[in-house]
Amino acid sequence: MSTPPMGPTSPPPRPSLPADGQGPSPSPQPVRLCDSPALEERGLAHGFDLLLWGQPARAFVLRFDGRVVGYVNRCAHVPVEMDWQPGRFLDLERRWIICSIHGAAYEPADGLCVGGPCRGRRLIALQLDEREGGVYWYPSRDLRPAGPPPSAAVAGTSEKP
Ligand code: FES
Repeated sequence: MSTPPMGPTSPPPRPSLPADGQGPSPSPQPVRLCDSPALEERGLAHGFDLLLWGQPARAFVLRFDGRVVGYVNRCAHVPVEMDWQPGRFLDLERRWIICSIHGAAYEPADGLCVGGPCRGRRLIALQLDEREGGVYWYPSRDLRPAGPPPSAAVAGTSEKP
C-alpha cells in the first residue's frame, strides 16, 4: 500500500448540534467519556456504547497527534466493528486506523478511508471536546447515548463528590 500524502489535519471538531427535523431540539448534554490521561498518544482507544439511528452500536475515542478523535466503530465497507483486539485500532506503525476484517486503512485525523475496499468513504465521526481533564462527546440527532442521561444532566444529582 502506498503511503498517502501527509496533509494538514482537520480542525478540531466543534460541538455544533444539528436540528432534529422536528423543530428546535434541546441542546443535548455532553457526555464525559473518560479522563484525558486515559488516552495515551496513539495508544489504546476508549470504547463505549451508543445508539446510531436508534440502534445499538459501539464507538471509540483515541489520541492521535495530541488531539482526541472518535468514530463509530463501524467499517465503511461492511458495518462491522473494526478493532483487532479490544481498543486496538491502529496498525503496527500506529499511523492508520485499520479494519481487522479486510484491512481498510483510515486517516485517524478525519476518518477518511485511504486504502482498501472502501477507499474514499469515511467513518462516522463523533463531536468531541477535551477540557478540564476530560474527554466529552456531544450527542446529535443520529448519535445518542445508549443509556440514561448522565447523572449530571438530571436535576438534583451530580457525579462530583
Ligand atoms: S469490513 Fe472493514 S474492510 Fe471490509
